[in-house]
Amino acid sequence: MLHVYKAAEELSDAVAKWIADKIGETLSRKDRFTIALSGGSTPQRLHKILAASPYKEQIDWSKLHIFWGDERAVPFEDSRNNAKMAYDTLLNFVPVPASQIHVMRTDIPAEQSAIEYEKILRQYFNSVPGGPEDPLPNSFDLVLLGMGDDGHTLSLFPGTEVVHEEKAWVKAFFLKAQDMQRITLTKAIVNRASCVAFLTTGSGKAHALKEVLKGAYNPDLYPSQEIKPSGELHWFVDEAAAAGLDGNA
Ligand code: 6PG
Repeated sequence: MLHVYKAAEELSDAVAKWIADKIGETLSRKDRFTIALSGGSTPQRLHKILAASPYKEQIDWSKLHIFWGDERAVPFEDSRNNAKMAYDTLLNFVPVPASQIHVMRTDIPAEQSAIEYEKILRQYFNSVPGGPEDPLPNSFDLVLLGMGDDGHTLSLFPGTEVVHEEKAWVKAFFLKAQDMQRITLTKAIVNRASCVAFLTTGSGKAHALKEVLKGAYNPDLYPSQEIKPSGELHWFVDEAAAAGLDGNA
């Protein structure tokens, strides 16, 4: 489902409300809400809104279980670290129990970190009781994603093998273009989520957004096309990013 907002401010306000409502609705039928956060710049405004009134008080943060969609393998103190960004903008300000926050470790080799994270995820989802009322018990309640100007999402970059990974839930690889190891969830787990939401703003993303949503299937060029969850898929975009959808970009 496509949701278009005037600009990033309106989009962030609307997504914050949408997430708070989703958490409330989910917690009315089960005892936890499992979310994967994304990195990048777009979620920062959203995080800050969630960390302030009214959501700071309204959301039952004690029932949240936090994971990440991907990580740049740089030390936690590095400003490029996705977990650090989430702490600086959200997690330092809301009472999520530390034991329920699962960062992708960057103090060990990336391959080892990916193996460890896969273990954590498999144990976690195996231990969450499912019920007949929950069609997809062993998955995230929500995966938040961003999309790069080149159509990447998570650390699934154009032309990389990890885009096609179908078995492993977590992979590490060296991203030549950024001279950096990346650790990422794969489509194998993300597509099992009950809900996936992309947040995409700015004219730089208009072309990729058009290709992802309206273009021919070509995930090697536009990896975001591989995100086809069994649950809901939402695209929250601003007018600048949506500009190509009516044939203009
Ligand atoms: C990362 C990401 C990545 C991000 C997009 C969009 O660690 O780089 O998680 O997939 O979501 O690059 O980033 P922006 O929000 O900064 O445009």
